Amino acid sequence: MGLSLLAYVLLAFTGISMFRARTSQDNPGLFAFLGGRRGVRSLHYTIGISMVSLVLLLLVIGIIGTLGHFGSLGHSSHLVAGLAVVALVLLSAFSATQISTRRIWARPLHIGVNIILFVGFAWVSLTGWSVVQKYLP
Ligand code: HEM
Ligand code: HEM
Repeated sequence: MGLSLLAYVLLAFTGISMFRARTSQDNPGLFAFLGGRRGVRSLHYTIGISMVSLVLLLLVIGIIGTLGHFGSLGHSSHLVAGLAVVALVLLSAFSATQISTRRIWARPLHIGVNIILFVGFAWVSLTGWSVVQKYLP
């Protein structure tokens, strides 16, 4: 979970630096250091794929762990929160693959979904934390 939050922060950072490079004239030093537009883009992409994998891994661990322990799912709103985060992450990754000059809706969708994803991460962390509390002696 910590790793997926780290990935989110890095994605926000590299995403925003791409946005700034696209919408302004000057080329900031760090952007050039990371290899310019192409370098930052492939970095953003690689971290993005890592975040998707991490979230899917957490989903599988959560489901298998809960099934193994209780034999059933849905003990709290953590299930809904987890599924929502997975859906948002997949939608974000899908919209990212659609970003191009032809599909103008893809970029705002990608950015919008990622802002909502921030709320999703907060929700899944809080509900996850409260299920952890239930099991502590
Ligand atoms: C789900 C994993 C993700 C993947 C695979 C991904 C991939 C991409 C791709 C391919 C682009 C287009 C780059 C271009 O214009 O050449 C992009 C743009 C962008 N991404 Fe992501 N991204 C992911 C997650 C995120 C997250 C979590 C954030 C922010 C918290 C973010 C913020 C941005 C922003 C702001 C842009 C716009 C850049 C611009 O306007 O030029 N991305 N992303
Ligand atoms: C993207 C992140 C996460 C996803 C997708 C996810 C997904 C899931 C899912 C689907 C379940 C099965 C829940 C049920 O059927 O009731 C589960 C269980 C669980 N998760 Fe997560 N989870 C995430 C993050 C977290 C975090 C951050 C924590 C702790 C701080 C956590 C702690 C737990 C615990 C303790 C269970 C067993 C819950 C129960 O018995 O109801 N999870 N998770």
